[in-house]
This record gives sequence, structure tokens and C-alpha cells, in this order.
Amino acid sequence: MGKWFARLYDVAMSPLEQFKFKKIRKRLLRKSEGRVLEIGSGTGTNFQLYRGGLQVDAIEPDPFMKEISIKQKEKSKVPIRTYLEKAESLPFANDTFDSIIGTLVFCTIEDPGKALKEVKRVCKPGGRVLLFEHVRFDNPVLGRLQDMCTPIWSKVCGGCRLNRNTRERLKNAGFAIDNTEEYFKGLFLVIECVNSKE
Ligand SMILES: C[S@@+](CC[C@H](N)C(=O)[O-])C[C@H]1O[C@@H](n2cnc3c(N)ncnc32)[C@H](O)[C@@H]1O
Repeated sequence: MGKWFARLYDVAMSPLEQFKFKKIRKRLLRKSEGRVLEIGSGTGTNFQLYRGGLQVDAIEPDPFMKEISIKQKEKSKVPIRTYLEKAESLPFANDTFDSIIGTLVFCTIEDPGKALKEVKRVCKPGGRVLLFEHVRFDNPVLGRLQDMCTPIWSKVCGGCRLNRNTRERLKNAGFAIDNTEEYFKGLFLVIECVNSKE
């Protein structure tokens, strides 16, 4: 992503974070339990929001983002180990985690199908996958607009795609979605799933 993107990320996100996102993140993270994996932890925005009693591993492939997250890690209430890794190839054994967290990350992951296979593998059977993501609108006109804007948006915003169908991908990957909340007319979704392994 580059040094400047990483440095500007928190500044650019700050108005949205204060207005809405922080509350959404807090509510979502409160639902995590036991041993937690956060994928694409970025600058560590979630790190101070984890409640006590958890043990968190966080993977992030961008060295500049990871570097910034160290300050957040030091202020966290829980032990957090950070790794310079991608979601498509997770360095953990099968059935390791009780909860998996991803916030604003499936828009950027290069191969989301492969990443979901890895999430399924490292999450315990019955474990929870808790996501906060922006997605492609269901409305066909708005969805098409997102398709058109994505190539240039992706270049400016570190590979972020506006038109990812993350909810459908989760269903296709065999996760059982048990709660969805919509924000900003369905542009942002909180998606809670259970990992089933048959
Ligand atoms: C929009 S930022 C979100 C950061 C953070 N999760 C948040 O909520 O603020 C997207 C993050 O996904 C990371 N990312 C990109 N490709 C990834 C991959 N293949 N696996 C895991 N994370 C990835 C980026 O480096 C970046 O930190």
C-alpha cells in the first residue's frame, strides 16, 4: 500500500470513525470470544476496542500499516500478537480460533475465495466469523455505478474494490449467516456467521 497511504489512513477515516464506525466496531468486537484472529488489522483501529479476557492474533500484510498498529497494540487491554501475513495463507493450525474478525478488509483481499477457505480451516467448528464490510449495493443501478468506479478507486485506495459481494461469498463458502445489519442503505454490512465443517 505504501508509507503515505498508511500514514493518511487514520486521518482520512477519522470523521467516519467518530460519527459511526467506532460504535459499530465496539458492538461487533464485544461478540468475540476466547482465542481471536483478526485478519487485515491495518493500523490497529480495533486493538483498543477488544474487551478483557481475550487472546488476539492479528495478521496484516502491509509493513507500514503493521508498524503503525504497534502503538495501538501497546494500549490494548488484551495480549495481541501481530504477524506480517496474508489471509490467503494463514500460519495457524486447523481449528485454532473461537472467533475471527475482519473489518473493512474483504474489499481489499486479492483472493477472497482463498482467504475464506483459510478462515474456515483455522476457525473451530461452531466458531464465529464477525465482519464489518462495505459491499456492492443490491440496487442494480448503484451496483453498476460501483462497478464503473472500482478500477480508479482501487488505484487510489490501496486496492480497495467497491463492488465485492462479500455476503454471497460467505454463503457460497459454506458459512451459516445468523445475523446481518445494514448501514448507509446497505453499503456497509455487519455480518455474523457460524463456521460449520461437514
Ligand atoms: C481498508 S484497510 C482496513 C484496515 C482495518 N481492518 C480497519 O478496520 O481499519 C484494509 C486492510 O486489508 C489489508 N489487506 C490487504 N490485502 C490483504 C490480504 N490478502 N490479507 C489480509 N489483509 C489484507 C490491507 O493491508 C489493509 O490494512
